[in-house]
Amino acid sequence: MPFSNMFRAAWSSEERLDGKTVVITGANTGIGKETAIDLSKRGARVIIACRDMEKAKAAVKEIIESSGNDNVLCKKLDLSDTKSIREFAEGINQDEAKLNILINNAGVMVCPYGKTADGFEMQIGVNHLGHFLLTYLLLDLIKKSAPARIVTVSSLAHSWGSIYLDDINSEKSYDKSKAYSQSKLANVLFTRSLAKRLEGTGVTTYSLHPGVVQTDLFRHLNGPQRCFMKVVSPFTKNSVQGAQTTIYCAVEPKLANETGGYYSDCAPTSPSRKAKNDELAQKLWDLSCNMLSITWD
Ligand SMILES: NC(=O)c1ccc[n+]([C@@H]2O[C@H](COP(=O)([O-])OP(=O)(O)OC[C@H]3O[C@@H](n4cnc5c(N)ncnc54)[C@H](OP(=O)(O)O)[C@@H]3O)[C@@H](O)[C@H]2O)c1
Repeated sequence: MPFSNMFRAAWSSEERLDGKTVVITGANTGIGKETAIDLSKRGARVIIACRDMEKAKAAVKEIIESSGNDNVLCKKLDLSDTKSIREFAEGINQDEAKLNILINNAGVMVCPYGKTADGFEMQIGVNHLGHFLLTYLLLDLIKKSAPARIVTVSSLAHSWGSIYLDDINSEKSYDKSKAYSQSKLANVLFTRSLAKRLEGTGVTTYSLHPGVVQTDLFRHLNGPQRCFMKVVSPFTKNSVQGAQTTIYCAVEPKLANETGGYYSDCAPTSPSRKAKNDELAQKLWDLSCNMLSITWD
């Protein structure tokens, strides 16, 4: 946490979202679920996009009970399969009159080597390429709904990342931490590039680090790493605290004219040097379009 942020009062806002529609990926648990509860309390229509419909239905029940807003629903989205992403987006474009806030939240961290249905390494595939395609497919609806926001949950781990343009799928060698950092750097670069492309449309973009948050994200850690997490747990956030920067980026009125930036602890902060490299951002953009067989200039 930047030193200056340690003495700031916790952020809060009474901002209402009545009449607004929100999509949140991976909101059946963790940071995403807490974000969904908060935004439903503000009166939004909230669609949680999840891969496991049993978990998703249980989460919808909990979100409705906690928020008192029954305008909450779940739809199937598996970000590790472009077919599922296309089906999900088609459903949203058909059924929804607007989409004011898209929250690209879902993520996997340090999983064993695996590939998505389309042959992408799992972490870059789900965390970056899945959300890249989802945003592309929903963008016309989002633009029509302006003012609108696209919030992408990255991580401080982006700072240790590089984009391996010649081996983005880690086929030559796989280091699970490097692959996670690569995907989270990709989130920040994507947000920056997207902001430039959306200038003048009324759609603004944000990426963020939520903090170190006690969630299921750590499911793939080994024994010693889990012990370490237990030791540091008093210094970590619970999921309500971990959701605050996402909620801030989604609703804070003062951010309405800011776009492309990176946030932590409900405040703007500087991402790593690589995350501000526009040449790298463009190369990643071109590679992503190429991998997904889409044209997005
Ligand atoms: N927790 C932290 O300390 C921390 C720190 C920095 C950044 N973050 C970022 O915060 C975001 C939320 O993570 P979290 O901590 O809330 O973790 P979490 O509790 O594990 O939640 C991750 C969510 O993503 C979903 N997901 C995973 N793979 C998916 C796929 N292929 N398709 C659709 N959904 C999928 C999970 O669904 P299932 O429940 O079905 O697996 C779950 O709903 C992630 O982007 C993560 O990188 C977290």
